[in-house]
Amino acid sequence: MFDKSTYTNRREQLKKICKGGILFFPGNEESSMNYASNTYRFRQDSTFLYLFGIDLPGLAAVIDLETGEDTLYGNDLDIDDIIWMGTQPLMSENAAKAGINQTKPMSELKKDLQQAIQHKRSIKILPPYRGDHRIFLSAMLEVPVPHVSSFVSEELIKAVVSLREVKEEDEIAQIEFAIDVAYRMHTSMMKLAVPGTWEREIAGQMEGIALANGGMVSFPVILSIDGQTLHNHYHGNLLKEGRIVVADAGCESPLHYASDITRSVPVGGRFSQRQKEIYEIVLAANVNSINNVKPGIYNRELHLGAARTITEGLKAIGIMKGDTEEAVQQGAHALFFPHGLGHMLGLDVHDMESLGEKFVGYDETVTRSTQFGTAYLRLAKKLKPGFVFTIEPGIYFIPALIDLWKKEKKFEEFINYNKVDTYRDFGGIRIEDDILVTQTGCRVLGRPIPKTVGEIEGMMG
Ligand code: GLY
Ligand code: MN
Repeated sequence: MFDKSTYTNRREQLKKICKGGILFFPGNEESSMNYASNTYRFRQDSTFLYLFGIDLPGLAAVIDLETGEDTLYGNDLDIDDIIWMGTQPLMSENAAKAGINQTKPMSELKKDLQQAIQHKRSIKILPPYRGDHRIFLSAMLEVPVPHVSSFVSEELIKAVVSLREVKEEDEIAQIEFAIDVAYRMHTSMMKLAVPGTWEREIAGQMEGIALANGGMVSFPVILSIDGQTLHNHYHGNLLKEGRIVVADAGCESPLHYASDITRSVPVGGRFSQRQKEIYEIVLAANVNSINNVKPGIYNRELHLGAARTITEGLKAIGIMKGDTEEAVQQGAHALFFPHGLGHMLGLDVHDMESLGEKFVGYDETVTRSTQFGTAYLRLAKKLKPGFVFTIEPGIYFIPALIDLWKKEKKFEEFINYNKVDTYRDFGGIRIEDDILVTQTGCRVLGRPIPKTVGEIEGMMG
């Protein structure tokens, strides 16, 4: 955990922003895989970690905005638990580490909440994203499950977003730790990407490095020679000369801050001319976007800038044609770049996505585009110092999408379908870094991971 002052300061700030009532935060529970006691690795709720720091199941916390009091609800272990799990700190000791003086057994929680409801006090929660949470909340609040959402507070969501989106120094250090582990994950991948290796062998090594460094992967490893499938979790292919391995993977630091890095490398360690040409376009989109980061710029501008770089690059090799501005404005580039430039990063790899992208990536000054491609942009709003986010442009040749657009004669003025057809077996390329917005520009976080053609070929040997 961070020092207890970190958690008390965060809660004090929250208390200043929220306007009354009771803020109720259930922690996450163990989650069963195939029978009750065989569980997935425990993952605490991220906002619970942010405000209370205690990385254990079986907890809930309440902040009373009238009295200013924070209460941790949870049970001390009994002797049966201790036999299986060993002696653990008392609840009061856990609470003290988070700067909380008051603890109560879990059995008191419902009574306290019901008493507050009887006194017509408002209870505010964040959107639940696990089924067991909805059932727990339904029981505690004495409402049917479908009515639980009526307790979700937009005021609380916005307050939490306003705090979590600006990273403190200690948080940035955690993210950089996670990126330094990702350095080892990705450079190992580069060394293993030779013909005859199975994708699963590399994915397993990458996950193992995350575990060996004290965290878990921040999302299931995406690794495939079929990188044209954006989130490909199938690892059953044998690596073949001529394909590109897209590896999109990161891990969690000990305090659960995420890294999220993508590198795309040629099987066998040497880019072909055709691969190099596409790679350099994606690299230019990545580097130009990074160079344009500064406080006050809309991330949607960076996304559209990357789309322009991609369109220009594809025009130069005859895959696209026509006026770049027109092509991007109409969304023709999305045949090759059908996703957003990036997302917030922090305690979640898509930071705070459970709170709702419209609050995290958008605000009253920018609404989500409905256009294919840009509609998937998770972060569009103005960047502020302290934001940490990803920049991850890509170019993909997706046969099903190519066929669909060609049949519909879509954007024939901007796309040379005959040329595109010669790339159907290409796969995809994505390059992703994690970026901190500073007062004057930005910093690419962590130890630099080989990224240029020369650096990657040098690492692959
Ligand atoms: N790294 C996975 C994603 O950004 O969606
Ligand atoms: Mn990402």
